[in-house]
Amino acid sequence: MDETNVEAESAAVKAMVRHHTELVARVQATTAELTRAIDIGDEDTAYNAHGILLEWGEREMLPHAAAEEAQLYRPAGAREEARLLVEALTADHQDLAALLDELRGAAGIEAATVASSLSRVFALHVEKENRVLLPFIARTPDLSLSAAVEGLVELVGDTHVHAPDESRHAHG
Ligand SMILES: [Fe+2]
Ligand SMILES: [Fe+2]
Repeated sequence: MDETNVEAESAAVKAMVRHHTELVARVQATTAELTRAIDIGDEDTAYNAHGILLEWGEREMLPHAAAEEAQLYRPAGAREEARLLVEALTADHQDLAALLDELRGAAGIEAATVASSLSRVFALHVEKENRVLLPFIARTPDLSLSAAVEGLVELVGDTHVHAPDESRHAHG
């Protein structure tokens, strides 16, 4: 990997970590709001926070997970040394989708409990991606994180990531 690639890969890791941090902050803040509202019996606020959480799950979390599976898990999982990691992360995505389904039908204290599980499982999952998956893709010469995430708002939010031309053509 030449120097341009090292820089591009490290910028891509930073962009994804930043987007992960935003996603975690949003689910944690809304879960806290829902829990507080249920605690004090503020039904309007609880109703709104529940709706915002469901919308976050459907519009942010699920598209993020789907984009990761296509752009990151598929190429990384094809490498023997990352296969089990990718299986475990994919199982997390299924657990998160199941929690979101559960949240849809939950109300009151049960909604607060499910939301808090969703928020915790999501934060732990993201931590594994940040610490293990992203560095693995970034340092593996045949894989390009910058090419995989370039232009995908589901993965890097508003941050512009540019892949060096050769990695885009070779692996995009
Ligand atoms: Fe994920
Ligand atoms: Fe992620």
